Amino acid sequence: MSQILVKNIGLLVTNNPSLGSTQLGILKNAALLAENGQITWVGDSQSAPTAQNVIDADGKCVIPGFVDSHTHLIFAGDRSNEFSARMAGQSYAAGGIADTVTKTRAATDDDLLANANRLMHESLNSGTTTIEIKSGYGLTVIDEERSLKIAKQLTPETTFLGAHVVPSEFKAKSNDYVDLVCGQMLNQAKPYAKWIDVFCDRGAFTPEQGRKILTAGIAAGLKPRIHANQLEQGDAVALAVELGCASVDHLTYFKQSDIEKLANSKTVATLLPGAEFSTRSKYPDARKLIDAGITVAIASDCNPGSSYTTSMPLMIALAVREMFFTPEQALWSATKGGALALQREDVGHLSIGAKADFVILRESSYIHLAYRPGVNLVEQVFLHGKSI
Ligand code: NIG
Ligand code: FE
Repeated sequence: MSQILVKNIGLLVTNNPSLGSTQLGILKNAALLAENGQITWVGDSQSAPTAQNVIDADGKCVIPGFVDSHTHLIFAGDRSNEFSARMAGQSYAAGGIADTVTKTRAATDDDLLANANRLMHESLNSGTTTIEIKSGYGLTVIDEERSLKIAKQLTPETTFLGAHVVPSEFKAKSNDYVDLVCGQMLNQAKPYAKWIDVFCDRGAFTPEQGRKILTAGIAAGLKPRIHANQLEQGDAVALAVELGCASVDHLTYFKQSDIEKLANSKTVATLLPGAEFSTRSKYPDARKLIDAGITVAIASDCNPGSSYTTSMPLMIALAVREMFFTPEQALWSATKGGALALQREDVGHLSIGAKADFVILRESSYIHLAYRPGVNLVEQVFLHGKSI
């Protein structure tokens, strides 16, 4: 049996309101015990049980590992020139995705795995202990299938995004491409995917096409999620709620009726501040969603076009500074919110029975994640009870 006790935690965020104060379930002067990768005890440091291995947190803050519920890690190359051009005034369009598609198709499986592994490592080192990974830069049957095979080596949270954009060989024949996605591509992707996603936006797919694709995915046993309202106000939120999507992601734009629909649903609103940052777009005001009682997650959207970062601490800082989250709300959205977006009950919190995925910060409070932007505050990351 492997045992690890972390004692003298100045501030322990459990995300379990029945264990401590506020929505974050905060305990002061706390300890936690992990056995065989699970949390088995949480409480006052003074009354902590003995254990094989003991770590003294020296009054620092411990938080659940981040749950990054939206990434696109399977790709080749980068688009730094596109970023540079954007910073010089060009606007972001979905079309840039085609450039990464060309590079991804030309890459070997080993290259794609090595690149995704590199990013996974980066992500884990910055405190992310659960990650979702999408396909979507292959856009052929074979390239989507291999993208998902590679993703599945890295996480159980894999998403088939064959409907990322219409590839150039299907230009002006988007419905033919939709048929391919719903047919052979879905068939070959589904053994490796848990989720299905569609980019419903300007320059990508219409809500009607999105409906067709998500419905086919659901019939094939995948669970739906959706990219919506990144580039313009569209009608995909209604579709997401109607189809019971676990999450609707981006929401750079939303209207009052979207708020009402989401508030009466279980669909999580996942905001991606890295995308607004990197495309120099206006940030949505998260207060309007949170105040309406909607469950809000934040995620990195790591991809080579619109948000080339794996850093959840940066997402927290941007969410607080630019989207009007409080530091508490941002931390919750980056942990428990992400877990809800992935419909996972075993991560995103530190209650008894949860996975022992947690982070010791270098500071005494999680507030520093937003207060000290750009500084590495992650002292030690534990994945399934083991220090990485
Ligand atoms: O989530 N919105 C669509 N897909 C990605 C961007 C992909 C790219 O630009 O390569 C996103 O932001
Ligand atoms: Fe995305």
